[in-house]
Amino acid sequence: MISKREQRLAETVSVQLAKALERRNLRPAITAVYLTEINGMTLHISVLDTHRIGDHTRYTSAQLLHQLRTDLRGMPVYLSNTNGIRYVTLLSRLPRLPKHVALPVDAPVDMVQIGVRLSGEPVAARWDSLRHIAVLGISGSGKSVFLRLLAHQAVRAGMRLALADMDGATFPSLDGHQSLVMPIAETPSATLELIQHTLRECDLRAHLYRSLRKPAENLAEYNLLAVRTGKEPLPRWLVVLDEASAALSALGGGRSELGQTLAQLGWRGRKFGIHFVFAAQEFGKELLGAVREQAGLAVCFRVRSEDMARRMGCAGASRIPEGRPGLAVTDRWGLVQTYFVDKDQRLEMRLAEEERLLFEKAESGGGLLTRERVMEWAGLSEWQARKRLEGWALRGWVEKDVRRNNAYQLTDKARRLLSNTPTAPTAPTENNTEQEATITHD
Ligand SMILES: Nc1ncnc2c1ncn2[C@@H]1O[C@H](COP(=O)(O)OP(=O)(O)OP(=O)(O)O)[C@@H](O)[C@H]1O
Ligand SMILES: [Mg+2]
Repeated sequence: MISKREQRLAETVSVQLAKALERRNLRPAITAVYLTEINGMTLHISVLDTHRIGDHTRYTSAQLLHQLRTDLRGMPVYLSNTNGIRYVTLLSRLPRLPKHVALPVDAPVDMVQIGVRLSGEPVAARWDSLRHIAVLGISGSGKSVFLRLLAHQAVRAGMRLALADMDGATFPSLDGHQSLVMPIAETPSATLELIQHTLRECDLRAHLYRSLRKPAENLAEYNLLAVRTGKEPLPRWLVVLDEASAALSALGGGRSELGQTLAQLGWRGRKFGIHFVFAAQEFGKELLGAVREQAGLAVCFRVRSEDMARRMGCAGASRIPEGRPGLAVTDRWGLVQTYFVDKDQRLEMRLAEEERLLFEKAESGGGLLTRERVMEWAGLSEWQARKRLEGWALRGWVEKDVRRNNAYQLTDKARRLLSNTPTAPTAPTENNTEQEATITHD
């Protein structure tokens, strides 16, 4: 709801903005003004007629935005230039994000939960769509907590982990964990070994992919074909490289090779279900472009250089206040308060809500799950039910019942998960909705 006060304010802003432009010998060629509410903020948007103003540069300079702000007695004016030129003025107060949001214990496991955005809405995405993740931030800004958040969720989703942790403080509760493909790397040389191990896994997977009659393009395709022909499915890997700049420099040798090495890691990993997280205080020029290219998600906590933040698609990250660790600008959702995961929090592999309900029902009927049952119990189409069953078979939660067609039996693995999954429901959300206006900070 736009309040009366905001409506009055909007009229003043329209008048003052036009005057302010005129005072600077700029044409107040505003073709439309509208008010809108986004994420609980009321915005005043003035659309400029780009044909009438001629040279755009003076209309879009940081200096002008600053002057407009002064003329509007400190109300911030942003530029949105995704679609023509618009001045965006915030009429309401800037909503505050809470300083601490715990990862909900019942968060769905089929998505990576990132945190909450200004609207209070949770943000999450699928591993596939994230590809690789770039994490930037100065010391104490929240990188390690975020890496822990990712690693713990990978465990819950049944992935394998390859972790590098120089200060030994990031993943204490994962030390010796069964999900690790090798011990946590705590030195640069161990980190290098970890990357090399990952590359060997890519080679192995390349070999396995080639052994199929039909070539697979990605892990999901490979696994489907593998299971159908009685082979073991391959788990996704999460490879976390803290202080990635140092590790990659050691791997790349010469400067020019570095970007190529990274591109290769990224490209191969993507095809084989191996997701990298590149975390660092900053990336040098020789890495930044390649990192940006490989990352399906960039998360910038407080950074030193606004230029670097911009180049990662995270403008504004240099202005995150010092006292806000865990607050980040992301290239997908803008400002996000990332979830906090305690150092000692233990998370085990777990079931999504729908899975728990279905498995419980199956269990009370002797463990049998047929396609028809899944369709009826979960209200799914035949195709969806088949996908679900195949997915569970991939994770080792059900096995084909050899005596019946299209029938599966719950495995002990699923039964164990059933006994340690609580029962509170949460709606999964993958939110990619574009904001009405992309706000570019000055
Ligand atoms: N998501 C978060 N929510 C709330 N507080 C957080 C969050 N992330 C980090 N913090 C707080 O900030 C402190 C420092 O965070 P963290 O260790 O993750 O920083 P870092 O970027 O890894 O620093 P360094 O580069 O020195 O390792 C944490 O101990 C915690 O108290
Ligand atoms: Mg750290």
